[in-house]
Amino acid sequence: MKRDFLSVTDFTSEEIRENLDLAIEVKAKTARNECPNVLNGGVGALIFHKASLRTRCSFEVGFRQLGGHTVYITDKEIELGKRESVHDVAKVMSRYFSVICIRTFSHNDVVELAKHSDVPVVNMLTDLLHPCQLMGDMQTILEHKGTIDNLKVAYLGDGNNLTNSWMRMAQRIPMDLHIGTSPQTLPDEGILEKTKKVGLSQVTVHNEAISAVKDADVVYTDVWASMGEKDKVALRGKQLAGFQINPDLVAHAKKDAIVMHCLPAEIGREITSEVMYSPQSVVFDQAENRLHAQKAVLIKILGG
Ligand code: CP
Ligand code: NVA
Repeated sequence: MKRDFLSVTDFTSEEIRENLDLAIEVKAKTARNECPNVLNGGVGALIFHKASLRTRCSFEVGFRQLGGHTVYITDKEIELGKRESVHDVAKVMSRYFSVICIRTFSHNDVVELAKHSDVPVVNMLTDLLHPCQLMGDMQTILEHKGTIDNLKVAYLGDGNNLTNSWMRMAQRIPMDLHIGTSPQTLPDEGILEKTKKVGLSQVTVHNEAISAVKDADVVYTDVWASMGEKDKVALRGKQLAGFQINPDLVAHAKKDAIVMHCLPAEIGREITSEVMYSPQSVVFDQAENRLHAQKAVLIKILGG
């Protein structure tokens, strides 16, 4: 049966751990020009309905390093669900491509695409989740901390697709997850409840920043207004003013805490330049690891 990667919970805890080890191995092999040829000339569809630097470049490069090719497609060509049903798009694309990767607004569209596709579908970001980011982030944490288990992770800012992805990761990997956000910007309630019910990790929502970040091993943030909601920048600036990652806030985390951001950053809003470019920041390692973590995901779902 084909395997999709729409959420980190599509992998078991064991599979996530194996995949992170594989990503580190693939990173070393890439440096030696020894990436496995798992795609063997196969072509990946990269459908983008939103902007991207890291995701597009890392998938384009990753497919080539695995011996494959890509076709970049925007909604101008497909008009998903308008010009043609999601079902028919899935059936047609399955006849051309080895993998279909998609970044779009509606998570349900991606679920629908995967349901009807005969080849694996990879979620490159929806309004609900960004699982590929989390795989690269966990690889980065493993490299810097030597473990991914039982760390205190503080997520500060908008309750968005990254916050939801962190909670999904907490359903698979034990952690002490603290979310600092305003009452108006809470993450997905269903995912929060499910994470608590699974009970593997502690998850606490704070309406102020200091208690969330206290003694954290990892301090994480993301933009306050995601793609598709940039009209809310001023409003979010007011709602989340107390949740900026700045030197005063980071001082409450552990001395050896790492600071993470999925990027792109809006410097001066959710993070200050002092922190973003400080020795504690691992943001460019995260960007680099997207390449290797995603190759490991592709190897896994293609059965390589
Ligand atoms: N972090 C991330 O997904 O970046 P892009 O939006 O540039 O792909
Ligand atoms: N939450 C952000 C992440 C960008 C990588 C967005 O969806 O725009």
